Amino acid sequence: LIDRKPHPVWVGEGLLSRLDELLPPGLRDVPAALFHDARVPNELISTVGGRLKGRLALRLAIDAGEGAKTWQEAGRLLELLAAERLSREAVVFSLGGGSVGDLVGFCAAVYHRGVALVHLPTTLLGQVDASIGGKTGVNLLGAKNVVGAFHQPRMVIADLSALRSLSERDLWSGLGEVVKMALIRPERLWSRVSGQLSALVAAIMSDSSARGWQPLVADCIEAKLEIVGSDERDAGARAALNLGHTLGHALEAGAGGLLPHGLAVVSGLRAVLHLSARRGWLEPSDLTRALDLLAAFPAPNVVIDREAALAALLQDKKRTARGLRFVLLRGLGRPELADDVPMEWVVQELDRALAES
Ligand SMILES: NC(=O)c1ccc[n+]([C@@H]2O[C@H](COP(=O)([O-])OP(=O)(O)OC[C@H]3O[C@@H](n4cnc5c(N)ncnc54)[C@H](O)[C@@H]3O)[C@@H](O)[C@H]2O)c1
Ligand SMILES: [Zn+2]
Repeated sequence: LIDRKPHPVWVGEGLLSRLDELLPPGLRDVPAALFHDARVPNELISTVGGRLKGRLALRLAIDAGEGAKTWQEAGRLLELLAAERLSREAVVFSLGGGSVGDLVGFCAAVYHRGVALVHLPTTLLGQVDASIGGKTGVNLLGAKNVVGAFHQPRMVIADLSALRSLSERDLWSGLGEVVKMALIRPERLWSRVSGQLSALVAAIMSDSSARGWQPLVADCIEAKLEIVGSDERDAGARAALNLGHTLGHALEAGAGGLLPHGLAVVSGLRAVLHLSARRGWLEPSDLTRALDLLAAFPAPNVVIDREAALAALLQDKKRTARGLRFVLLRGLGRPELADDVPMEWVVQELDRALAES
């Protein structure tokens, strides 16, 4: 158990089969709703369903992915909660990746002005990043997370067994956020990722044991809790977590939903490293070390529309009069906001990313 602010997190193998004992006492016998990703293995869904037996008022499968994070889908879920007359005392569970977590979290944040939420993340990205820290939301008119709320989960239970059924691509996507965290907190994470990533992926793909992932996943969660705990409402320190996301989001927009979030972030991180070096903030030797870390990742392998990506960059809310607002690195482990990155440099990085995709 990682017991710190803003919420406790359990990490380990086989935790979902002990779900009822792990929950905080106040959530052990209240009515529950379970929303799960339709692609999570049945075995996991029935394990969770079984542990909530006798109090499960509602269980619904959601077709996961960016397409699930819509206002309409949120409305549908909220109407189902209301139709079941779920009370303020109820608890809502989300079992799935970051997309289901963001959507279900948003519904929990606004239903009855906020009901208890428990995340049961089943993707690596969900476990190390999306389920932690209370950001929820849906997309609007193609822009990401434009509608949302801060709503801290009462608890997160990251069962490593869930990772066994992930595709290799989704594992690498999660590792994208892991490496982002390693660049922000190298003292905690560098030695866990440097030269280790391919072996971790191979281990889970071949003997399907996730045990070896425990220290890495736990360290990432601790690092994220540390950052969000000091800045729950995103007024400062939390901005560091956007490292690689400005260009990443643009590439996602250009790929029309075919590029997993974490792989888009990896391309965004390469851009950040080059921009930081170009600005004289990052030593050439650190640039090389960091790019080496990213070399293990598979190429995105999707068609990305340059115009759409460019349009997304230009309409980004991070744009200022002097240029684009970017989190850069003033050395490894020292993220810093720069709000005057020349558009021209950014477009060059976009073209580099497109050439590598
Ligand atoms: N709230 C936050 O702070 C935060 C942080 C980072 C990312 N996010 C959001 O998270 C989303 C991305 O999350 P994601 O990468 O988990 O994507 P996702 O939810 O789309 O899941 C990726 C894929 O894995 C499948 N899947 C989920 N669990 C599985 C399992 N156990 N076995 C097999 N397949 C499984 C899903 O059906 C989907 O196809 C984005 O919308 C991003 O904006 C939010
Ligand atoms: Zn992200």
